[in-house]
Amino acid sequence: MQQTIQRPADHHRLIHEVSRRRTFAIISHPDAGKTTLTEKLLLYSGAVAVAGAVRARKNQGYAASDWMEMERRRGISITSAVLQIDYRGYRLNLLDTPGHQDFSEDTYRTLMAADSAIMVLDAAKGVEPQTIKLFSVCRRRGIPVLTFINKMDHPTRDPLDLLGEIEQVLGMDAAPRNWPIGDGPNFQGVYDRVGNTVLLFQRTEHGRQRAPMQITNLNDPLLPGLIGEEAHRHLQDEIKLLAGAGAAFDQERFLRGEVTPVFFGSALNNFGVDPFLEALLQLAPPPAPRRTTAGEVVSPESEVFSGFVVKIQGNMDPRHRDRIAFLRVCSGRLEKDISVYHPRLNRQIRISRPHRLFGRERETIEEAFPGDVIGVINPGLFAIGDTVCSEGSLQFEPLPRFQPEHFALLRNRNVSRYKQFHKGIAQLEEEGAIQILEWTDPAHREPILAAVGELQFDVIIERLRTEYGVEAAIDRMPYELARWVIGDERDISNANWPAGRCLPLKDRRGNPVVLLASEWYQRWCEEKNPGLRFVELR
Ligand code: G4P
Repeated sequence: MQQTIQRPADHHRLIHEVSRRRTFAIISHPDAGKTTLTEKLLLYSGAVAVAGAVRARKNQGYAASDWMEMERRRGISITSAVLQIDYRGYRLNLLDTPGHQDFSEDTYRTLMAADSAIMVLDAAKGVEPQTIKLFSVCRRRGIPVLTFINKMDHPTRDPLDLLGEIEQVLGMDAAPRNWPIGDGPNFQGVYDRVGNTVLLFQRTEHGRQRAPMQITNLNDPLLPGLIGEEAHRHLQDEIKLLAGAGAAFDQERFLRGEVTPVFFGSALNNFGVDPFLEALLQLAPPPAPRRTTAGEVVSPESEVFSGFVVKIQGNMDPRHRDRIAFLRVCSGRLEKDISVYHPRLNRQIRISRPHRLFGRERETIEEAFPGDVIGVINPGLFAIGDTVCSEGSLQFEPLPRFQPEHFALLRNRNVSRYKQFHKGIAQLEEEGAIQILEWTDPAHREPILAAVGELQFDVIIERLRTEYGVEAAIDRMPYELARWVIGDERDISNANWPAGRCLPLKDRRGNPVVLLASEWYQRWCEEKNPGLRFVELR
């Protein structure tokens, strides 16, 4: 059965629902303040009355399953959740990306479902390694990025220096939308360059409540008295300097990811959160059209429902030992019980209980619109990247795999559960929880796990035990990168590899891959094997 929206009133509603959606993710290096800013966006949008809910989840967690128990113990969030916030007529979908150092491919993939990103930087540290990695995914997708420079209540680096770093390291122009007045204990507020106003904040105890804010004009004769003569002079000088030096903001260039609007503040103290939320509503784009493998572009306002699977999560809740597919709605309207076509399986399936999910809590929903990310019970029907649609047979471009950086040999400790072991790793690979590599020499049977973050190994061991009843162990391998090898088959089998620092393998499709101890060995291999090419991803 095909379901489309036919009535004009329904179509108007679809257009309205699309236009009020903002689906975004927050990216940051651990400790820059992603969790705190999330919490404060909830506070300022009225989704929570008192800040603390998100951190409570982060610290106390939901001891729902064994590996959620692991999350709790380690104080991290592996299971990315979707926070839905209704604010001033907008519906914000905040896709939570795990913030821990041991992040995984899921962190990257979440960005595939977002229409924009917020980049949080620590004002004392600037652009950090994980910022660069996550930003590179945003860049690849061409999604717009808003920047929040956090922790202005601590001694910071020179703001101009921070803007310069964004431009040089990330290759994106940085256009300050506001400018800090002082830093550390003297941080008093920001000058809003767009409205030409000065926003002065007051501290509240632990920043649990909204901070009182005083708005005044830059030419207010009382301003020097309010912020101090010296701070006032300094501000005047910097405003003049910026007029000549700072990059200009341009909405079109922002939407193409070429310029980022920059905001200063302190999430912990609620300084600058309100103007940032306002700017987010104004600047962040609604759901964008998506490209199919056939080169067509599907508009979110198309009446045909379509979506793709961005993530699969097993064992979310011990009361329901099931697997959930997270579906990002791309076009049309999804309604409860909709029958959709699944091109990969070439069959119709019914989505009987779409869910809104937050950690352990789930709630059945009646409908969803482009930009929403919903949970669907997945009895083995979905794999990462699958497209579903209510009509025709469109397929969105496949989700990219990300460069693994950690490798380990996986050993099955109870040989009698050989079948479960192999079924488990095949399913976990299908979910996208891990990449599997194999030996070229048939004498070696143990699979090699390739992960973006080390935490993925622990998750695999835990899930093999709880979901498949298999005790497994891993031996870390001393390699740092994997390169797919392109070249003549004979050249590959006769290739000259540096002993002990390089391991030739194949992926599950039989493509040759080498693990290398460092980039230095990649260059060595390239020199010794001029007929071969080494690529990051296949
Ligand atoms: P993350 O999710 O990016 O990893 O960062 P998170 O928000 O957990 O913040 C990391 C630490 O930085 C936390 O301190 C948090 O309180 C602090 N922080 C966040 N925003 C600000 C800010 O604007 N100013 C200052 N001074 N600190 C900030 P913690 O001690 O690790 O945790 P907690 O004891 O505060 O929970």
